[in-house]
Amino acid sequence: RSAGGSLALELEAARGPVQLAGRQATALGYNGTSPGPTLRLRAGDVLSIRLTNRLAEPTNLHVHGLHVSPAGAGDNVFVAVDPGGSFDYEYRLPADHPPGVYWYHPHHHGMVAEQIFGGLFGAIVVEDAVPLPVSMDRVLVVSDTDLDAAGNVRDVPPSERMAGREGGLVLVNGQSNPLLSALPGQRERWRLVNACAARYLRLQLDGQSMQLLGMDSGRFQSPAAVEEVLLAPGNRADLLVTTMAGESVLRSAYYDRGSMPGMMGRGPAGRAQGDPSQGVSLATLQVAGESVPGPSGVPPQPAPADLRQAPVAAHRQFLLAAGMGGGSMGGDGTGMMAFTINGREFDEARTDTTVAAGSVEEWTVVNTSPMDHPFHLHVWPMQLISVDGAAPASPAWQDVVNVPANGRVTVRIAFRDFTGRSAYHCHILDHEDLGMMGAIEVR
Ligand code: C2O
Ligand code: CU
Ligand code: CU
Repeated sequence: RSAGGSLALELEAARGPVQLAGRQATALGYNGTSPGPTLRLRAGDVLSIRLTNRLAEPTNLHVHGLHVSPAGAGDNVFVAVDPGGSFDYEYRLPADHPPGVYWYHPHHHGMVAEQIFGGLFGAIVVEDAVPLPVSMDRVLVVSDTDLDAAGNVRDVPPSERMAGREGGLVLVNGQSNPLLSALPGQRERWRLVNACAARYLRLQLDGQSMQLLGMDSGRFQSPAAVEEVLLAPGNRADLLVTTMAGESVLRSAYYDRGSMPGMMGRGPAGRAQGDPSQGVSLATLQVAGESVPGPSGVPPQPAPADLRQAPVAAHRQFLLAAGMGGGSMGGDGTGMMAFTINGREFDEARTDTTVAAGSVEEWTVVNTSPMDHPFHLHVWPMQLISVDGAAPASPAWQDVVNVPANGRVTVRIAFRDFTGRSAYHCHILDHEDLGMMGAIEVR
């Protein structure tokens, strides 16, 4: 990191020996690790990454949630880096870029689920201009996968891709149920990333007190006390944990994200763990030792932007559908299911939505299927206006919004700062790969 506010690094995507769950697996990693290195940035920084592809298939890089240009060498998900090739990305964060936790992962259409399930992802932290008073800042990247006896990542059959693959091995920073230790009476900051391909995380931490600072790029003006936090795939939570003596389990409680009639369940995860209602433990927190002076108050955060009174230039509707009759699946006798937005599967050559730069739009995302779909828009964050008719009490900004089974979500988006072409899609990565994605151009 130089004084000029720039960070340059090389990321090499490769299949090889990676430490996962305390053993040597043959998996995908960046620079030999999964997750890849955590990148710490500040608003106004320039992040330069040379991505080198040592895989046997194409890949590329996406900085999920960062408000940076989608054009040229920026967050351009239409770049394909072929095996043996490399690409120099340059991401310029505006001076008013929101602090928070973001992440990076591949985005080559058709291969996203497999490459992330294989281990390619990492966290990005955009630091606060004024650091919050905490005793510990932890980045907890939650992922899931499956390893066979030889330590290879399991191949996922087409039938499991319709629900979205879930792995029975749920990891935090590549470890299985790691032990975290803390002193009592402290305030810690936990930045959680849901890097799972399809698994929802309904986070609970019994015996400790949790406050939610914000989700994704969003930040509440004051942190809200919470009993649990639901992270759809792709979502992040910025949490404050005030520690109390004892042992607590960070767990993901059972969450029913629905399914299609006749669809297989949740893949091996539910089966391997018996009763899915038991949930999954992610990490164990041990709080012991001499109590230390209590934490000082959290300074109020700047008031979040609020588009509720903004003039809206266009209203659009996006229908998310999963139904029989698509051409993407088949061959294994499980039937053909199409994953579409407004009746169409993704086609890179087509631009589905054209938006005037600088305008505010209101989008209603309607889920016509009996399973949840987490809707994600690149580059420009979304303010939640309503979820199934209910409005959030205070402005909430996210880049992934869960659209409940047979439900609808309305958001507002300010298409500011950048022009160019990017994408919106379901963040159940198999659905994205199977076509539940659209291209947007802002000009
Ligand atoms: Cu996290 Cu388009 O992706
Ligand atoms: Cu993204
Ligand atoms: Cu979906």
